[in-house]
Amino acid sequence: TIPIFTTVASYREWRQKAFDEKKSVGFVATMGALHEGHLSLVKRSLLENDLTVLSIFVNPAQFAPHEDLSSYPRTLPRDLELLTALQIPATDAVDIIKTPSAVFLPSVRDMYPSGISQDVANQKGTFIEVKGYGDQMEGKSRPTFFRGVATVVTKLFNAIQPTNTYFGQKDIQQALLLRRMVKDQLMAYPDPDHLHIVPTERDPVDRLALSSRNAYLTPEERKIAATLVKALEEVKSAWKSGSTKEESTTKARSFVEGAAALAAGEGVEMKLDYIEMNDSETFEVLEGNAVKETVGNTPVILSGALWLGRTRLIDNFVLGDV
Ligand code: PAJ
Repeated sequence: TIPIFTTVASYREWRQKAFDEKKSVGFVATMGALHEGHLSLVKRSLLENDLTVLSIFVNPAQFAPHEDLSSYPRTLPRDLELLTALQIPATDAVDIIKTPSAVFLPSVRDMYPSGISQDVANQKGTFIEVKGYGDQMEGKSRPTFFRGVATVVTKLFNAIQPTNTYFGQKDIQQALLLRRMVKDQLMAYPDPDHLHIVPTERDPVDRLALSSRNAYLTPEERKIAATLVKALEEVKSAWKSGSTKEESTTKARSFVEGAAALAAGEGVEMKLDYIEMNDSETFEVLEGNAVKETVGNTPVILSGALWLGRTRLIDNFVLGDV
């Protein structure tokens, strides 16, 4: 069984031993309800580090008052089973197989010694804001989200002190914003070059991006949930074969509208939140020729969000070299 640390103090002893033995520590931050997407981050960490730690903490600060904090899926026994079963062949002669080394499972009190209110106006204590990078894209629909994420991930980095850390491309703005935060804050554990972005894990059949929130979908909603990735693929291929951003996104929007009309006939509510192209450095929206000019220099993020009933799904592709 994997050791579980529920306090920062008990984890610190374990971490000190790793420092003393000069062992690298890879870290994967999660909110639990683990799936193959999370496990792909853990596998990457197992390959690249002596030891691997995963945290499970449903962070109140990144949920707005009207969002799904209380209903967010919590599946701890199954999460621990999945981690225990995870084994990869080691490439060195020391271990034959590698498995996750520890799970960090802190309480809300431990993570927020000054307390935490979901009502931003009434919050007290220390918060981290990556100014100018948390208002675009996902931040437009979720204005306090990235402040909550940056705050908790700073705390997790301070507690875990990872040599390397792994974030999913699934949440591309989150990963890039955190890399900027690590750089701005002159962090050493991890340093900005050791925050790695891992490709999105998808359903092998319909390519739906794996997500803990997929658990909310009814069977009828799940059947059409891949509409988002299909729309993004449509934009990508139209754009690559010479269409402008406007032409290719308009085409994808009407594709989603068509699918939504069909779904409505079956009693399933589907609505596109947005499809956009943004600069991966500034997160600014790109229009017209700016997309082509930008791809030549920095990668462009093609992203979207889709409502299925009360569930909001997100996905993205990166155009150009990352
Ligand atoms: P959570 O949604 O649990 O995701 C944890 C990590 O898994 C994130 O880095 C996310 O991008 C990655 N991930 C999720 N689905 C993935 C997929 N299909 N393929 C690859 N990676 C995937 O993101 C969070 O939690 C929180 O915001 C957190 C960073 C833990 C802060 O609370």
